[in-house]
Order: sequence, then structure tokens, then C-alpha cells
Amino acid sequence: MRPSLVLVTVGVGLLAAACGTDTAVGDDGDQPVPRATWFQDVAPILSKHCMSCHQAGGIAPFSLTAYEDAVETSEMITKKVDAGEMPPFDAREEADCTPRFGWQDDPRLTAAEKETLHVWIEDGHALGTETAIAKPPSTALDGVSKTMTPTQGFTTTGTKDQFICYVLDPGNTQLAWLTGLQVRPGNDLVVHHAVITEVTKQAEIDAVVAARGIGQPWDCGTSATPGDFVVNVWTPGNQPMRTPTELAVPVLAGAKFVMQIHYHPAGQNNDIDFTSVDLKFSSVWPRKMYFVAAFGNEFAAPNLQPSPDEAPGAPVAFMIPKNSADHPETMSRTIDNLGGLTGVKVFSVNPHMHLVGTHISGKIVRPAARGTNPANECLGNGGWNFDWQRTYIYDAPIDSLPSIEVGDKLEISCRWNNTLANPFVQRMLHDSNLPPQPIDITLGEQTTNEMCLEIFGLAVDAPPQPAMISAPFTLPSLDAQMLRPSSVASRFRTSGN
Ligand code: HEC
Repeated sequence: MRPSLVLVTVGVGLLAAACGTDTAVGDDGDQPVPRATWFQDVAPILSKHCMSCHQAGGIAPFSLTAYEDAVETSEMITKKVDAGEMPPFDAREEADCTPRFGWQDDPRLTAAEKETLHVWIEDGHALGTETAIAKPPSTALDGVSKTMTPTQGFTTTGTKDQFICYVLDPGNTQLAWLTGLQVRPGNDLVVHHAVITEVTKQAEIDAVVAARGIGQPWDCGTSATPGDFVVNVWTPGNQPMRTPTELAVPVLAGAKFVMQIHYHPAGQNNDIDFTSVDLKFSSVWPRKMYFVAAFGNEFAAPNLQPSPDEAPGAPVAFMIPKNSADHPETMSRTIDNLGGLTGVKVFSVNPHMHLVGTHISGKIVRPAARGTNPANECLGNGGWNFDWQRTYIYDAPIDSLPSIEVGDKLEISCRWNNTLANPFVQRMLHDSNLPPQPIDITLGEQTTNEMCLEIFGLAVDAPPQPAMISAPFTLPSLDAQMLRPSSVASRFRTSGN
């Protein structure tokens, strides 16, 4: 039975006036029964999709845990949900690019859930029968083996975003296989996203530890994050990174992690932050291991394609002209070397741009269809919001994942809105101490530069288990042309940036 209207009107008082004409009619013939109520229908949806951030002390600017909160903001809620802006998740399924598989932990509302929010508003925000509201889904990692925490915290100041790095030590004296990772912010109000990289080369480990110590914050906003491996990109509310035990991230003996945190000063509660990283190791020797390759950031022809904003005959260049509302760049690269690896699968996609970006997609063009892999395949497609970066992991078994072989061509396309109508342009100028006028933007590392990069998490065959787990272990070396994040910086220098 639906809850009675008597209780509803106690909570709202406006119900009769707000009833839609298609409202169901109750048993007694004239009492309209609301099609959705707060306790029975709406609160469970908001708990599942919104309350992890929209709660007291959460990163969102207002709470959605109480009936009154939701009534007050209800029009705004449906507007943001219908526009695909809330919950934040920028993957898109569009006519020219829809991946073959869905994404793990996709937080978007179903069509039925969206409809429930609409009819709840149309029928006058009925309260329903009071009952406990379920807690938002837990984001805790199960079976944590080790937690890494900075030795010194960081306190945000001012009004500008800050990029702070910490070297963290998993303490491994021999190769270990990571199958889970979760970032746990200390101060939810200021931690906007975190990038975890692994530093595996001894010389780089020695240099970064000598310069930065272990667990000490340093400002890494203007330089590349150390590390040759992006393990995960985290944003608030994200479920932990988890892999099946047959696929694991190699954490080499002596390897260190670098955690880069994007802090967004909250203005009101800039309490010191100690953000921890939980790790889960597996004792099973995996069949596949996780590896990373980045594509994009091409600064010249032939890989960089001409763009419509270039004068005919002008050299092809990565340049986003000021005041261009929808500037595109497209780049492609044929893979001519995979370091001898075969059977490589794409496990995850982590798009990367800077503030001004609005859209990014990645496609693969194979010489011909290969097994279940079509000749043309969309690997990832989405709007871009700098604040909501994440690693998208396919929701599919490893063996069905998109395959990459030598001879395949990757194509990355990006778009930018470089006008003041884009609030991120204003933020970029503010954060760089520039007057509020758009500037021409080129490829590079700085906040005033842009990027167009897809970092693919690959599943590659793991080596056979050695007799001694402490036997030396080296990562495969991919073709230098496959841009690993650590080599991105040197490429910019060659382009004169
Ligand atoms: C991952 C954290 C997170 C989740 C989950 C989330 N939000 Fe938000 N929401 C935010 C943040 C942070 C903002 C502030 C603006 C921004 O950063 O985009 C915001 C802003 C909003 C706004 C706009 C406020 C304004 O002034 O424009 C609305 C409305 C909103 N959220 C509703 C929702 C609803 C409804 C859900 C669930 C269906 C949801 N949000 C899920 C973090 C979240």
C-alpha cells in the first residue's frame, strides 16, 4: 500500500495544488496518491547517487540528506541530473563514439530513477512513511594490506587551486602484486582529486627521495609529477580501484608511490589534510599485469591533423585561439612497436586535459576486424571537467576487452572552449595571475597550457612465476613513441615550450 495522504500533507501542505492531471487516484476515488514519496522512493536514490558528497562535511556545497534540503533544491536537482552534470561522471555515449562496454561503478541514474525524481516533484514532494534512510554506498577497500599516510599534512591557503605531491613508501622489499587501491581524504572539503603514480627506476627513486623526503608535501603545480606509471586517478565518491586477482599492478621491490593532490581551498574550513592511500596486495601470481601507455599530446604533423581554425597553408600546430568557443584538435598514431608484447588489452581509460577542455574521445582503427574486435572501435568518449577526472574501467571480462596490436592506429580528439563563457577559462586566468582576457593556448605542462592525452591502462601477459619471488623483475619497455607520462615533459621541451 502507498502511504496515506494525511501524512503527506502534514509534511508538505501544498500537495493538492501541485497534483498533476495524470496522478493516480486512490481507492476512495478522490484522494490522489502520489506516484513517489521521499522516504520510499527519493531518499534511496539520493543516498545511492548523491549523499556521499552532498552531506555535512562532504565536498559538495550543500547537503541532500534531509527532506527539507531536497524539497528546497528539487528543481535544480532534476536540472543537473537531466543535463548529466550530477552525479559527476563525464563518460558519454554519442552517435560517433560509444564504447562497446559500460564502465565499472557507473554512478549515473537510470531512466526510471530520473523519472521518479520528476514525478515526486510533479506530485508535490510527498513525504511518505518515515523510515531510516540507507547510508550512501561504502567506498572502503576490502582487505586492506597496507595504508600509506603522509608524515606531514598540508593546509590549503588563499583562493587558488594548489597541486601538492607526496612521496609514499609501500615498503616492499620484493615484487608485490597490487589488486586494490583507495584514496582516503583527510579533509573532504578541500581534496578535489588525486593522481597516484609509481616510481620504479632506482635513479629516479633516489633523486625524488633525496629532494622531497618521504611523506612530506611539496608544491608540484608547475612541474611534471614524478613516476613512470599512473596507477589511478581518484575523485571524491569514487569506488576503490579493484582488479580481479588474475590481473594485478606490479609494485617493484623498493618502488615508491607519488600522490599528487589537487586541493581546492574551501574558504571556510581549510583544516590540515592528511590523505591516506589504502593498498591491497594479492598472493596469487597473476595471469595478466597492468601496464600503462599514454597517447596524444602531438604537437606537429603528420600525427597532429590540420584544424579548421588554421589559415589555409599555415603549418599544422597545436594552438587553441583565444575566444574560440569550440576549437578541435585531432591526432593519430600508428603503433609500430609494442615491445614484443602481444595479446595486449585495454583495461581502463584515463583521459587528461587541463582546465579549458570540454570534450575528449579516443578511437582505435584496426587494419581489419580481429575476433570480436571491430575494425573501428570507440575506446572512450566524454565531456571534460577538470574537477572530475577519473580512471574509467571497462565493465567486462579481461579476455573480451578491446585488443591492441602493432599496425593499429589510435586517434585522440579533443575540444576546448577558450572564451570567458567557460568558467574554467576565468579560473585558469585567475590561478595564473592574469587579467580576465582569454589568451592563445599551446600544448604544455603549465596551467596556461593545454593537453589532449588518453592514458590507457593495459592488461599484458605477466611473466611466468619465477622459483624465487625475489628474482629480479623488469617491466616491459614499450616503444619510446608510446608516450609514457614521464616522457611527456621531454617531448614538450623538444617543441620549444
Ligand atoms: C562526487 C561528489 C558528488 C556527487 C556524487 C554528487 N554531487 Fe552534486 N555537487 C558536487 C559538488 C562538488 C558540487 C559543486 C559544483 C561542482 O564542483 O561541480 C555539486 C553541485 C551540485 C548542484 C548544483 C549547485 C549549483 O549551485 O549549481 C546540484 C543541484 C547537485 N550537485 C545535485 C546533485 C545530485 C542530485 C546528485 C545525485 C544525483 C549529486 N549532486 C551527486 C558533488 C557531488
